[in-house]
Amino acid sequence: MNNRWNKLIYKIWSRLYDNFFNTGRFLHARKEVFSNTNFLKNQKILFVGVGTGADLELINHKHLDITSIDYSDDMLNKAKEKFKDSSIKFLKMDAQDMSLSDSYFDVVIGSLVLSVVPDADKCLKEMLRVLKPSGEIIIFDKFAPKNKGLSPFKKAIRPLIKLLGTDIGVNFEKLYEKNKDHLIVKVDIPIMFDGMYRKIIIKKVNTDDILL
Ligand SMILES: C[S@@+](CC[C@H](N)C(=O)[O-])C[C@H]1O[C@@H](n2cnc3c(N)ncnc32)[C@H](O)[C@@H]1O
Repeated sequence: MNNRWNKLIYKIWSRLYDNFFNTGRFLHARKEVFSNTNFLKNQKILFVGVGTGADLELINHKHLDITSIDYSDDMLNKAKEKFKDSSIKFLKMDAQDMSLSDSYFDVVIGSLVLSVVPDADKCLKEMLRVLKPSGEIIIFDKFAPKNKGLSPFKKAIRPLIKLLGTDIGVNFEKLYEKNKDHLIVKVDIPIMFDGMYRKIIIKKVNTDDILL
């Protein structure tokens, strides 16, 4: 995966994306991901790799201070068009190198993005950086099975799937290991396709708490 290829592939996907990933089982899964989420009035929320804004459609965004970033102009334009009468800010930005302040957001949301960016660890580190201490990251994504490798079939098709703009082999446990001093996993539940897709809620560790 690299940014240049993703830009091209998501230009193509932008026209079809909602027909595949914002309908049927995906829509059902998204609804489940946000079913117990209660945002507080005026909270600062960041959507990372917002795409066509499929998640935005599921939340009451009126009294929230939302920023949405994506690397693809074409995906971003779809989202902008849907929410043109809203106060949501849409910014073209690389999720692995965000021009956003440290410890600014109350909640960061990353749906189907850690499996897409070239470097999931860089992206997670950036999500943690811009998140306030004790803030939460809500992740909806597909990961390699816990504690075992990909099946031979998935190993064989992984390069092809990567060409389509996503990776079925990102290992969340490895990401956790690399960042475990800065986060606590509060929720990790299967959400779709036998646990291939998971809902994960991460809390950013408040370093002041550790020193106490
Ligand atoms: C599979 S789509 C997910 C979109 C949306 N979050 C959703 O749940 O439908 C992945 C998105 O990540 C974006 N993306 C890919 N690489 C990126 C990067 N380096 N920085 C920011 N966004 C990126 C793509 O343009 C695309 O919109």
